[in-house]
Amino acid sequence: MSIQQSYAQKRMSAQDAINLLKNDDFIIVPTGVGEPPTLLTALSEQRRAFRNVKVSQILAMRKYGYFDPETVDCVQHVALFFGGASRPCGQAGWGDFIPNYFSEIPSMIERGQIASDVVFSMASPMDAHGYFSLSLGTDYTMEAVAKARVVVLEVNPNVPFAYGNCHVHISQVTALVESEEAITEVGLPKIGPVQEAIGKFVADMIDDGSTLQIGYGGIPDAVVMQLTQKRDLGIHTEMIGDGIMTLLESGAITNRRKTHMPGKMVATFALGSKKLYTFMDRNPMLEMHPVNFTNDPYEAAKNDNLVTINATLQIDLLGQCGSESIGDAPYSGTGGQVDFVRSANRSRGGKSFIVVPSTAKSDKISRIVPVLSPGTHLTTSKNDINYVVTEYGVAQLRGKSAKQRALEMINITHPDFRPALREAAKQMRLL
Ligand code: COA
Repeated sequence: MSIQQSYAQKRMSAQDAINLLKNDDFIIVPTGVGEPPTLLTALSEQRRAFRNVKVSQILAMRKYGYFDPETVDCVQHVALFFGGASRPCGQAGWGDFIPNYFSEIPSMIERGQIASDVVFSMASPMDAHGYFSLSLGTDYTMEAVAKARVVVLEVNPNVPFAYGNCHVHISQVTALVESEEAITEVGLPKIGPVQEAIGKFVADMIDDGSTLQIGYGGIPDAVVMQLTQKRDLGIHTEMIGDGIMTLLESGAITNRRKTHMPGKMVATFALGSKKLYTFMDRNPMLEMHPVNFTNDPYEAAKNDNLVTINATLQIDLLGQCGSESIGDAPYSGTGGQVDFVRSANRSRGGKSFIVVPSTAKSDKISRIVPVLSPGTHLTTSKNDINYVVTEYGVAQLRGKSAKQRALEMINITHPDFRPALREAAKQMRLL
């Protein structure tokens, strides 16, 4: 049978594809805009026909019908990382989550620790050789495809055909559902004076020729905006977004001085505007790879001068980061933060930056605290952290003692909170 005949045979409506599901199935969906809206809408409409189906992904983008406490016994969201759409179900408790390091999700799937009965994914149109590109969310989905009983691709001409190790062959696919919906676009965040100040501190410490990983959240993007005057930067990251597009347009990125995969920009998922998605299409400069490649600290650290920039919500005097919950209320997930802090620690000349405004809620709360709030989910450990940057300066922690760390952290705290922190540090025998 030709690949075209195979395509025609596997093509079906979204409703028919949902009929391939069984009760108790665990569905893997790619990160962010790699989620297939037509399929997930059809699942939402038919959700009452099922029992105990789980949908698991990083960064759900849209609030589909199955985000519904009344039908949680039919279909439940199990986050690998909460986003705006899924956070309320995580915080209310009728959603669930699986703690993970992003780099290790594929091996957890491979070992059966995370089930992968079914994959629902966006994909580019098929090429002449029978391959689809999972360019928007390559991540853990490639491993899930290898394990799943049922693989359903939502084929959309707006999905770029990217290069790298992100291709699924028609012979691996159970069903194809076509759609033409525009891919969700995510703009750059607004940058205020706090973000700008943090961005400037970090930019001053980044040399030309460095390779960058840029994390998720407003501040990492603010840092990127301060790097347009740099030269010969390279990209080895997890998420490719519009911040990176800005650096490309300014001529700051050439990838030429990378010591690992020179000339290539490497990422595992994409989240940005149509401009980004167009750039990704058949572009030899870019390779999309599974997350157990991009985020593996030993692999990423093959890049000399690797600079990693990630955000946190709360940090204590030893440098322990609670980046994914506010107290015991889940906010996001570990994602690739620890993967890349460790990568920078291993990279020759590498630097990891944790960037954080010193306060939250209009200066009412200090984000630098003596101890993390009860219930906080610990993300980056005191043993891994290196540079911490607020709008008041840079604390360098790696190799520093507990007492030295307390002083460094107090120096980058908002002045209004420094006396109380000093007092707390004394009580903790840190000063
Ligand atoms: N106490 C109470 N509220 C707090 C707080 C604290 N200590 N810290 C932050 N908040 C509030 C903020 O005020 C803000 O609320 P608002 O939306 O009402 O203004 C909200 O929490 C989010 O804070 P913000 O700093 O704007 O976060 P962000 O949206 O830029 O996202 C992270 C930052 C930390 C959630 C995100 O970077 C993350 O998930 N990190 C972990 C994963 C990671 O780093 N992966 C890296 C590779 S992608």
